[in-house]
Amino acid sequence: GDLTARARAHSNIALAKYWGKRDATLNVPAVGSISITLDALHTDTTVSFDTGLADDELWLDGREQPVGKVAVVLDLVRERAGLDLRARVVSENNFPTGAGLASSASGFAALAVAATAAAGIEATPRESSVLARRGSASAARSIFGGYAELHAGSSPDGSDSFAEPLLEGEAWPLSVVVAITDPGPKTVSSTAGMQATSASSPFYRPWVESAPAGLDRMRAAILAHDLETVGELAEHSCLALHSIMLTTRPALIYWNAATVAGIHAVRALRAGGLPVYFTIDAGPQLKALCRPEDAAAVSAALAAIPGVAETRTSTLGPAARVVSK
Ligand code: DP6
Repeated sequence: GDLTARARAHSNIALAKYWGKRDATLNVPAVGSISITLDALHTDTTVSFDTGLADDELWLDGREQPVGKVAVVLDLVRERAGLDLRARVVSENNFPTGAGLASSASGFAALAVAATAAAGIEATPRESSVLARRGSASAARSIFGGYAELHAGSSPDGSDSFAEPLLEGEAWPLSVVVAITDPGPKTVSSTAGMQATSASSPFYRPWVESAPAGLDRMRAAILAHDLETVGELAEHSCLALHSIMLTTRPALIYWNAATVAGIHAVRALRAGGLPVYFTIDAGPQLKALCRPEDAAAVSAALAAIPGVAETRTSTLGPAARVVSK
């Protein structure tokens, strides 16, 4: 038969952040994390296992790229399916790639789902999550829609480090306004950055030790639909993450002037009575969390900041899925 399948997965943003590995080879995170999946940012990936290919190929937004960790995911699928064919992977993002908008999350989630379907094997969402995690840990969360939690687990083979749904998006709709302050690719990848942090920040260990309590509080606040607490915890998680980035040697400074202006703009909106909260990942983009009815006002305030090139507003998104086979 034709060993081709296409899948779509959405990007996600962590409200309780992960940084650093428990096992670098198996790509197991050192701490758990909790995220929301975003409807407006997605990756579409087609995987074709093909007798005519001598090597795996990766095409990202029309350009051929080194296969890198894509081969790790393809090898795991080939092993499970008993397949010995190379694959062509064609992937498109509807947003700037590698700029801290979680393209690796949607990308590896779409790859895991498409490659499994193309190979003709069945996988539970949990198995897809473990597979996606091998490409990028945050991708484990993009297998699910709405609110998801990725467990660090404790098993040496990483099999208990999977994501699972916490709450459906429809149960508590929120919006995220992404302020793009620099559409270019980031200078230090997450993988390299977190390696440096765990090796050199004096605050890394205390940060890891404080993670489980933060996750418990975030989980409870999400289940209670308590935006004020979720927002306060998300900002604290973001700032704690950036504090271990800033104290890495050499320092990881992902923010630019517009990122900092965005932080102050969000705090000013909040002082004016609007429940809005910021979070920032390994890049200069600022993401503001708010109620859907406030998204237009938040977007207008962020778009007015010098250096903000564009804003994108998203509601919560669905799970990764096969779109054609
Ligand atoms: C700051 O999942 O991109 O966005 O597993 O090495 O691919 P790798 O890293 P990645 O790191 C995400 C870091 C973060 C926080 C988060 O999403 O939890």
